[in-house]
Amino acid sequence: MSGGRKIRVLVCRGPTCGDLRDSARIHAELGRHVDRRGLGDDVILDWQSCFGQCQKGPNVLYREAKGREDKLHLAMAALVGSVKSAMHHAMTPERATALLDRHLVSWGIRAAATPPAPATVPVPAPGHPSSAPLVQSNENHDKKRGPSEG
Ligand code: FES
Repeated sequence: MSGGRKIRVLVCRGPTCGDLRDSARIHAELGRHVDRRGLGDDVILDWQSCFGQCQKGPNVLYREAKGREDKLHLAMAALVGSVKSAMHHAMTPERATALLDRHLVSWGIRAAATPPAPATVPVPAPGHPSSAPLVQSNENHDKKRGPSEG
């Protein structure tokens, strides 16, 4: 679907973003998101040692991947804005995955966000205790109520 174009996502793991603000959670959630949505052909997920914007972290850089690029070039390109690139600050795992979806679509790498694969729920065999219908009862709850509750 991407026609060979990719988005590179660099999560800062410098001392402020990584050690103090636990950017590893962001990186891990992005990895799970890529796996769940089958984005492995469109996304390169990596680490960055520091973007020099530590007070705003945790920071994540999204950038259209173009051939071979070293990390210093990536960091500088983010600052001058010469390519499709966006640095986002104060990131959370939820924001990071939402922004990945947004950039994939707005930069034309994906036509639309791919919905997550449906969860597979095992169906119990007939007669298995878990196949019995659930019956909800308020009987015990009612006995615990005092007279003023109703
Ligand atoms: S530690 Fe993340 S920008 Fe410096």
